[in-house]
Amino acid sequence: MSSISVLGEDEVSSFFESSPPLKNMEEIVHKLNGFIQLNSTGGRRIVCVTSGGTTVPLEQRCVRYIDNFSSGNRGTSSRLDMLSYFSLGGELASHIAGLFLMIHSLSVSSFQITPTFEAVAEARLLKLPFTTIYEYLQMLRLIATAMKDVGPCSMFYLAAAVSDFYVPWKSMVEHKIESGSGPLDIRLAQVPKMLSILRTNWAPKAFCISFKLETDSKILIEKATKALQKYKVHAVVANELSTRKEEVVVVSSSGNVVVRCNSEKPESIVEDNLIRLIVDRHSTYIKEFGT
Ligand code: PMT
Repeated sequence: MSSISVLGEDEVSSFFESSPPLKNMEEIVHKLNGFIQLNSTGGRRIVCVTSGGTTVPLEQRCVRYIDNFSSGNRGTSSRLDMLSYFSLGGELASHIAGLFLMIHSLSVSSFQITPTFEAVAEARLLKLPFTTIYEYLQMLRLIATAMKDVGPCSMFYLAAAVSDFYVPWKSMVEHKIESGSGPLDIRLAQVPKMLSILRTNWAPKAFCISFKLETDSKILIEKATKALQKYKVHAVVANELSTRKEEVVVVSSSGNVVVRCNSEKPESIVEDNLIRLIVDRHSTYIKEFGT
């Protein structure tokens, strides 16, 4: 089997070739390059956090769409925790402070940043909103390839809930589907997984954290372990839908770590401990890369 088919490179290329181009592509590229140029000095980290759910339009002039569940809390809370950890953490001096690229779904209502961090966040944060699976994946590719030279100091924290199935643009009807002609049959194609190509081609030196969401706890760890091996990410954060706010399991080659909220602190959220662990692992990764 050739490496091309292992990566699914053909499927990935045909997905992008048949996608409707980003409307504001030039503006995004401009903002992205400016942000990376300004911030990728002195060994600073740049973290790309994705958050929220992608939609799959059913019509080109979209009236109806299929949504992927996500409130956007994980991504937003994680970013705020990273920001506070980088800003206040004793061990982390300011010269390695993190900068944030956040791509978030437009439907994420909890996106507002808290006033405490507003001033810091303004200078350090680039927010890029998406709605559809087409927008999300095109933006992820743009970001990853633009961050290639940031090397091990870059991190991808992929908490967005990404559609696995979609209607290819070319087979999608242009106008609103008529409702007078009985039941609707739709055939959904599989969205190619982008994790392999991100790891191998787009940003091979970046530290990459993906997520695994299941509703059946019996298969969660097995699926996360398979994803870790298949996509060669640095860790997979496994979460079950109904308990995702209380507990996650970080699956990596060094073993599985269960991460929970601090039971003594009522206001604690699972991301507090999760981010501490992920940022520490990233620190080790950067050190190992430098030796
Ligand atoms: O937003 P909240 O309500 O707080 O909930 C958080 C969350 C449950 C959405 C989050 O913690 C989470 O698990 N996000 C990932 C959900 C998801 O898409 O899981 P998946 O098993 O379908 O995909 C696994 C990984 O493959 C993801 O990291 C995704 O970025 C990646 N993927 C998915 C589809 C695709 N075509 N290409 C991909 O690379």
